[in-house]
Amino acid sequence: MIRRFRVLVLTFACFFAWHAHVQAAAVASAHPLATDAGIEVLDKGGNAFDAAVAVTATLAVVEPYSSGIGGGGFWLLHLSSENRDVMLDGRERAPLAAERDMYLDQHGDLIPGASIDGPLSAGIPGVPAAIEHLSSKYGKLPLSVTLEAAIRYARQGFTTDSHYQRMAGFREDALRASTDAAAIFLKNNKAPEPGSVIRQPDLATTLSIIAREGARGFYQGELARRLVDSVVRNGGIWSMEDLASYRVVEREPVKGVFRGMQIVSAAPPSSGGIALIQMLNMLEGFDRATLTEAQRIHLLAEVMRRAYRDRAEFLGDTDFVSVPVNRLVSKKYADRLAAGIKLDAATPSDALTPVAVGTQKASDTTHFSIIDDDGNRVAATLSINFPFGSGFVAAGTGVLLNDEMDDFSSKPGEPNVYGLVGAEANAIEPGKRMLSSMSPSFLETDDRIAVLGTPGGSRIITMVLLAALAFHEGGDAQAMVDRGRFHHQYLPDKIIAEPSVFSAKLMRALSDLGHQIQLLDSSYGNMHVIVQQKESGKLDAASDRRGGGEALVDSGSVASP
Ligand code: GLY
Repeated sequence: MIRRFRVLVLTFACFFAWHAHVQAAAVASAHPLATDAGIEVLDKGGNAFDAAVAVTATLAVVEPYSSGIGGGGFWLLHLSSENRDVMLDGRERAPLAAERDMYLDQHGDLIPGASIDGPLSAGIPGVPAAIEHLSSKYGKLPLSVTLEAAIRYARQGFTTDSHYQRMAGFREDALRASTDAAAIFLKNNKAPEPGSVIRQPDLATTLSIIAREGARGFYQGELARRLVDSVVRNGGIWSMEDLASYRVVEREPVKGVFRGMQIVSAAPPSSGGIALIQMLNMLEGFDRATLTEAQRIHLLAEVMRRAYRDRAEFLGDTDFVSVPVNRLVSKKYADRLAAGIKLDAATPSDALTPVAVGTQKASDTTHFSIIDDDGNRVAATLSINFPFGSGFVAAGTGVLLNDEMDDFSSKPGEPNVYGLVGAEANAIEPGKRMLSSMSPSFLETDDRIAVLGTPGGSRIITMVLLAALAFHEGGDAQAMVDRGRFHHQYLPDKIIAEPSVFSAKLMRALSDLGHQIQLLDSSYGNMHVIVQQKESGKLDAASDRRGGGEALVDSGSVASP
């Protein structure tokens, strides 16, 4: 058996020793156990898509505050043998009994918490359908092999850390309200101390059913009945038909080019790809090298402002509403938008055609990146929305449900938990997918390829933009992940930034240009990147040091010391 030579690429590692080896495959994810599960599957002869099944399912077990079997996501795939990209849309759908005003009271006001806590906030999950689709259409190994690690960790348990404690503390009330969730995720009804062990025997059984029967085992039959009964008993509106009719959709990714760099990213119902390409298109009209540092940041804030305004107005599920995708990603349209940018003054957001208002709040989601030794790639961003989703576990199933319904515009003009607002395009309709910011992406220049993405709610798209610019400037995986982060989302009209990203001098210069700046108390995002040199095949990978993930490069051959 080939002894695979693993390279643990710590977030602070350099790549000194590995230049001599052919590095064949890499996995970067938000949890070391999930990265290990991906590598384990590659070692068993699986490809990137099999590894993606293993990583998806393991993250669902060991990072329950970020994603899960009761959630959804987008898997961006590159099929090396066909040189083709495809996006698997496993986004949640609104239940068929959903109504446009279901989160409003008799006065037309939002009912606090209704779209965030408990089973009424849950869309119909897409993850079980997506992993079966990945496995049966693109993988080489059966689900009984690729789900093995996830089942093992669900049964034997995993150890919590301080991040788990913070997330569970933040959602303690919602978790307490669900008997099964409190029993699984809390200890004595409180967020557990770091070092606690979380065992999920019901989830292990659910995963074993999926391993044996595929998606049908989740969406039909006894398990589906249990899910629906529990949801309905607790105020939700799921039906057996909702589950039986759920389908994963293959979509054409959104594509663009920025100064020779090709971008492949998420299509609607994500707003990510369109906004990313819009921002890069606008930037193309400016020679950033001639600008001062303050002007460069100002320019980025201005393109972010304009792309997020368009996001609010135009974007939604293209199966339900008409989204002018081609126009939004065209260079001509970007030129028109960019013509309004002044290099010596911020454009107040209320000077643009109005859409609405909001403020950023807590968010969670996860991302992983994979390249295998055949050149297949996966960039996947997955979510259950708020930390621990709705906080509700359907009785006897171990399935923690998402609260992705909050990503709809429940009331035009009112912000969701990310402070994002939307118009008609993202209104609630039965069976519709809610708009997302998740932006799994591939970048390609003449000599290199990058696979990337991150969690972070509304800030996902601007994090990917900053990393894409770092890659275009020649940065490696670590440089892309390390780049200081700032964000503008049209409304509220301010630049939000990580604590140490701007010097005092820069803050003054930005303020003189008319920007309001809010420095956050802590950093944000949890990006996982793999970069490949096209000619040598050499890989480097990095997991965000802001999180607790791990990036591994696997040589696939015996390595000499
Ligand atoms: N739930 C976060 C997103 O989809 O953007």
